Amino acid sequence: MTKTASNIKVEKPKGKLGILLPGLGAVATTTIAGVVAVNKGLSEPVGSLTQIGRMRVGKRTQKNNPLIKEVVPIHPLKDVVFGGWDIYEDNVYQSAVHAEVLDKKLLDQLKPQLSKIKPMRAVFDPMYVKRLDGKFVKKGKTKMDLAKAIMKDIETFKKENKCDRLVMVWCGSTEIYIQESEVHQSLAALEKAMKENHKDIPPSMLYAYAAIKMGVPYANGAPNLSCDIPALVELAEKTQTPIAGKDFKTGQTLMKTVIAPGLKARALGVDGWFSTNILGNRDGAVLDDPDNFKTKEVSKLSVLEEIFEPESQPELYKDMYHKVRINYYPPRGDNKESWDNIDIRGWLNYPMQIKVNFLCRDSILAAPIVLDLALFLDLAKRSGMYGIQEWLSFYLKSPQAPKGLHPIHDIFKQLNKLENTLRHIAGEELITNLGLDYGK
Ligand SMILES: NC(=O)c1ccc[n+]([C@@H]2O[C@H](COP(=O)([O-])OP(=O)(O)OC[C@H]3O[C@@H](n4cnc5c(N)ncnc54)[C@H](O)[C@@H]3O)[C@@H](O)[C@H]2O)c1
Repeated sequence: MTKTASNIKVEKPKGKLGILLPGLGAVATTTIAGVVAVNKGLSEPVGSLTQIGRMRVGKRTQKNNPLIKEVVPIHPLKDVVFGGWDIYEDNVYQSAVHAEVLDKKLLDQLKPQLSKIKPMRAVFDPMYVKRLDGKFVKKGKTKMDLAKAIMKDIETFKKENKCDRLVMVWCGSTEIYIQESEVHQSLAALEKAMKENHKDIPPSMLYAYAAIKMGVPYANGAPNLSCDIPALVELAEKTQTPIAGKDFKTGQTLMKTVIAPGLKARALGVDGWFSTNILGNRDGAVLDDPDNFKTKEVSKLSVLEEIFEPESQPELYKDMYHKVRINYYPPRGDNKESWDNIDIRGWLNYPMQIKVNFLCRDSILAAPIVLDLALFLDLAKRSGMYGIQEWLSFYLKSPQAPKGLHPIHDIFKQLNKLENTLRHIAGEELITNLGLDYGK
């Protein structure tokens, strides 16, 4: 079998990998408890490509479909340790019980491991998350001082847990909507603004700055800007750190990026797409504030525009009406329900409708994404890759793309990019579905 001449040298994973999660709420604790449960042989890592995903390598006729972790050296799950920050002092066991995602019976079996993971004091400002008021927070004169305090935490965690490497995935609450401004345009401007306590620098940006400055790969699971600004891309390139963002692609948006490419592929028109959700967890309470919802709305709305490209097919998509609503409804807790009504048009413009009713579990869908992002970012780092990792767009609702380029939302194109990147890292032939790939 011919191999592509990949000049990528991948360092083997050794020792312990520390996964740091700012925000030890529903998603983070479901991720941590899941990894502990899998390591104890109590359950299966369903939904995680790094653990059970397979992909083809070589020609179709060779019928070689190994596990992804057999193609590239993923850090072993048993050698992962977790840490994090929160504005509440609850340990991971207590926070997981509070989140009510996993059965108490399962959590009790994991209690010895989970209760040992205690949050570090958070960098937090209620100005950016108005519905929360936790008191377990750091004090600092300037935002630069606070970023330095996070760096100190990172260093201490690494030493105390004897980690070889670290990664960080933001699992904190969605902050209020902030548009990119002057202070985000260069590293020098950002650092100056941090020292001057500029209001356009929310806590999530300080965690991102701290991680990237220390060469710790960083992913952003919420729709806040966080590392999606030129200043932090500049820092990531300077410190050779891989980054990815933003907003985990879970329930409704996952379905959108599955269905929309199919409609477009068949040249079917779309007149409207109405999406509504109810959810009752802490995330839902935060998003009940209009300023925080705005951040999520912008992230969710970007998806269809990019997939349908109305400017290139105005007769099918020019007047598409797209609306997204999220309503806080406490009785449902983490078990979000979403409804989509899609008004489509077929042959001779005859109208039809599609209804999707997804009864999902938010954190159950998000947890394997946190794990995969962490392990793939670590792989990227060991492979000498840095800056924006577009191949991880697969996991993100509003993927970070290089300046001047539109992000790719179509999940099938995203998967193709992810798999081909892994083949490239492994020195395997890329699959283009052309010519000889199909046969012989
Ligand atoms: N679950 C999903 O399907 C999904 C999908 C996409 C994005 N997200 C995003 O992931 C994030 C986490 O979701 P969740 O359901 O776990 O929410 P959650 O409210 O249960 O957890 C968030 C935690 O972050 C903490 N926090 C807030 N600000 C912080 C700060 N500055 N430093 C440290 N901790 C801080 C909160 O106290 C809370 O415990 C949210 O931003 C959410 O929008 C979730």
